Amino acid sequence: MHVAHLTLHDFRSYGDIDVALEPGATAFIGRNGQGKTNLVEAIDYLSRLSSHRVATDAPLVRAGADQAIVRASVVKEGRTALLEVELNPGRANRARINRSPLPRPREIIGLVRTVVFAPDDLTLVKGDPSDRRKFLDDLLVLRTPRLAGVRSDYDRILRQRNSLLKTAGLARGSSRDAAMSTLEIWDDNLARVGAEILGARLQLVADLRPYVGKAYEAVARGASRDDADLDYRASIDQGLVTGLRPSSTSESSLEPGADLQQALLDAIVARRKEELDRGVSLVGPHRDELVLTLGDPELRLPVKGYASHGESWSYALALRLASYDLLRADGDDPILVLDDVFAELDAERRSQLAELVAGAEQVLVTAAVAADVPASLQGVRFLVADGTVTRDG
Ligand SMILES: Nc1ncnc2c1ncn2[C@@H]1O[C@H](COP(=O)(O)OP(=O)(O)OP(=O)(O)O)[C@@H](O)[C@H]1O
Ligand SMILES: [Mg+2]
Repeated sequence: MHVAHLTLHDFRSYGDIDVALEPGATAFIGRNGQGKTNLVEAIDYLSRLSSHRVATDAPLVRAGADQAIVRASVVKEGRTALLEVELNPGRANRARINRSPLPRPREIIGLVRTVVFAPDDLTLVKGDPSDRRKFLDDLLVLRTPRLAGVRSDYDRILRQRNSLLKTAGLARGSSRDAAMSTLEIWDDNLARVGAEILGARLQLVADLRPYVGKAYEAVARGASRDDADLDYRASIDQGLVTGLRPSSTSESSLEPGADLQQALLDAIVARRKEELDRGVSLVGPHRDELVLTLGDPELRLPVKGYASHGESWSYALALRLASYDLLRADGDDPILVLDDVFAELDAERRSQLAELVAGAEQVLVTAAVAADVPASLQGVRFLVADGTVTRDG
């Protein structure tokens, strides 16, 4: 797929812009702070209705304005659709396809699929477990848009259950009994919705694995395809094991087909006392870990805390490339965004990455300095300055 036309109104630093785009490689060049990332962020926003940079919509609306509009005509297998989202922080957003309003904006999710490479990607490797969970969930939502709703149901259930755990932990006598029986309802809710997310993540990790090994081999010098691996460590494993299984086992016993709902419920019940004492939910996908490892199969070390800076970078790139390959294998070429990544890479890795992405249907590249962008990705060039985007040549 590719974006053929992008219109922004009061999005980030832009007042009004209108840009005609083409398939193939396009570079956006401009000094720092001129709006390059803002531009590609708008396209990424359309894909999941959330930004890779911020958790809420408010910063996406131009300071002083109360509404932003992102409109893009997207060409997919020769057919064009006009997608539009109206961002109204504090009020409901609205979305339209070919000018017809959608009952729920969420229905637009997944129609545009993007994979964004950015300097922040190092946090995929070096950051907290929550950064890696977000990586998995963002990819899940692009592959199965329905899961966006499941994710927000889960967050809501978690908030309610946590506040109930706090109340129940402090309550005494009959009010405790009442809180405990309400808690059982929330146990069931958490297990039901949590199992859906857990099952989807396990399947995703299984699907992604071969692509990560292959991508790491392609970006890291002298690496082989068995070097990089991923493992999903579920909190229910640890929960069941507070005695059952040594925590040093790196392979998870969970399979996508297992009765995850029952396993979650068992793990919740097993940790009841601890949860009540601490007033938080200790079991569920929100406590799980995606573990990234490097090294030959005999001696795998976690990337976080062990890998060198260069290895960490290679791993982060490999995760993005693998996401791209996986989405592509699902049947539709996602839009690739390389936001400011070339400045971070040495010449050899620049050309390696350029070569790997050269075949993509649309690659949008941003850079402060044109010379940092490999020639093969310099197709069409735009200059970005002072809130304007102008085609260069
Ligand atoms: N909601 C907003 N309203 C007005 N201006 C904003 C808003 N959000 C961000 N900006 C401005 O947009 C600019 C940043 O734009 P952007 O991140 O796209 O820069 P860039 O061209 O990618 O720069 P760099 O090369 O440093 O990455 C900043 O000057 C910031 O103040
Ligand atoms: Mg930028």
